[in-house]
Amino acid sequence: MFVFFYLLLAYLKFVLSEFNATARPRKPIVLERSGGFQIGGKIIQSPFNPNFTLSCDHGYMEYFVPWRPRKTSLVMWHSSSTQVWQNRWDSGPGYKDLFLRRNYPIYLWDGPRVGRANWPCQPTSYTPSYQDQANFAAWNFGPRYPLWWPDVQFPVADAAAWQHATSARYIEYDTTANVELQASAAAIAADSGKVGKEIVYLTNSAGGLRAMLTTAKANNTNIKGIVTYESIGYVFPDNVNVTAGTGGFGPVVVPVKQFKKLAQLKAVQFVWGDHRAANYSYVAESRRVAELINSYGGNARVLMLGEEGLKGSTHIPFADLDNEKVAGLLDGFLEDAGLDGYVDEDAEDWSDEDR
Ligand SMILES: *[C@@H]1O[C@H](CO)[C@@H](O)[C@H](O)[C@H]1NC(C)=O
Ligand SMILES: *[C@@H]1O[C@H](CO)[C@@H](O)[C@H](O)[C@H]1NC(C)=O
Ligand SMILES: *[C@@H]1O[C@H](CO)[C@@H](O)[C@H](O)[C@H]1NC(C)=O
Ligand SMILES: *[C@@H]1O[C@H](CO)[C@@H](O)[C@H](O)[C@H]1NC(C)=O
Ligand SMILES: *[C@@H]1O[C@H](CO)[C@@H](O)[C@H](O)[C@H]1NC(C)=O
Repeated sequence: MFVFFYLLLAYLKFVLSEFNATARPRKPIVLERSGGFQIGGKIIQSPFNPNFTLSCDHGYMEYFVPWRPRKTSLVMWHSSSTQVWQNRWDSGPGYKDLFLRRNYPIYLWDGPRVGRANWPCQPTSYTPSYQDQANFAAWNFGPRYPLWWPDVQFPVADAAAWQHATSARYIEYDTTANVELQASAAAIAADSGKVGKEIVYLTNSAGGLRAMLTTAKANNTNIKGIVTYESIGYVFPDNVNVTAGTGGFGPVVVPVKQFKKLAQLKAVQFVWGDHRAANYSYVAESRRVAELINSYGGNARVLMLGEEGLKGSTHIPFADLDNEKVAGLLDGFLEDAGLDGYVDEDAEDWSDEDR
């Protein structure tokens, strides 16, 4: 009898550990569909024989649509690589999974020539530069390699995590012509309806400039919002005496009529980490552009993560160890802008449980 009781206990313990809800705290991600497509681009003819053509300079969009989706599509636009949206620095869940669990359709975008849209119409060149150490400082892991910020939201003791971060890059092609090319393809994607009728761009670094320019170029109203994480480069209207930059980081100057499209978005947010100096030139640009957007009746603001109590942010806060907190701020942005509704609004009563 005693032996039997003991065996029963052992069995119960085994069952509990096999189905241990604490050990598996996350609900499954349930998708209705996933896939990808090329969009934009052109077909060029061989100068030697017009019967031979090349389809090139398109962008590539990968998508994941939840079983019960919200209306707003989150388009994640990197400048370094899509990897930064896929995982946290310690390989935990990145923004992609965090927001799939919140039932937002997720789109991972590679603009023409980068990543999986690596099929250009023109010759390109790549010269290796020894820039791991420059990445470290540029991504604000610390003031300079290998000096980490003491509070940095990165697993500093994990050498593999650093190796993974610095090797996850694509060639960016940061030239004015490529910024235009990539924004034009994204505008075609936005107008096509294939990315949904409510688009919010989430961008990092030089992706912010591209998403703003995409909005200026798009002809319909599918784009509803932009949240930039540490945007390097801004779009300005042509009536404020700003001179266009000649490189890949702006300023890009567009006709006022196009700039006003940014003021028609439900909301725009320029987000900065606490280790960015308030007098950093791009922080100043973000404040100026938010004012300009608001002067045309828009809803733009600059959000300093440090003022929200988040410390030790890197240049890529949505991959930081505290990315759940960063995501919580994005939840608030989407709710405030009325961009958190479900396609299937009638079943709203299950939404809380579903999250
Ligand atoms: C369930 O998982 C948690 C976290 O891993 C662990 O602390 C706990 O001991 C587990 N419980 C059982 C019954 O195995
Ligand atoms: C291109 O194709 C057409 C139709 O098949 C053919 O008549 C023509 O000779 C081809 N041109 C060249 C340069 O091969
Ligand atoms: C928007 O319309 C203008 C004027 O017709 C056109 O030149 C431009 O290519 C269109 N943009 C897109 C993204 O289709
Ligand atoms: C426009 O900017 C240039 C250079 O930044 C400056 O020299 C000029 O005075 C400005 N013009 C006006 C009207 O503000
Ligand atoms: C920002 O402020 C710091 C400290 O006051 C100063 O050393 C630095 O030169 C300033 N940078 C710019 C771009 O103005």
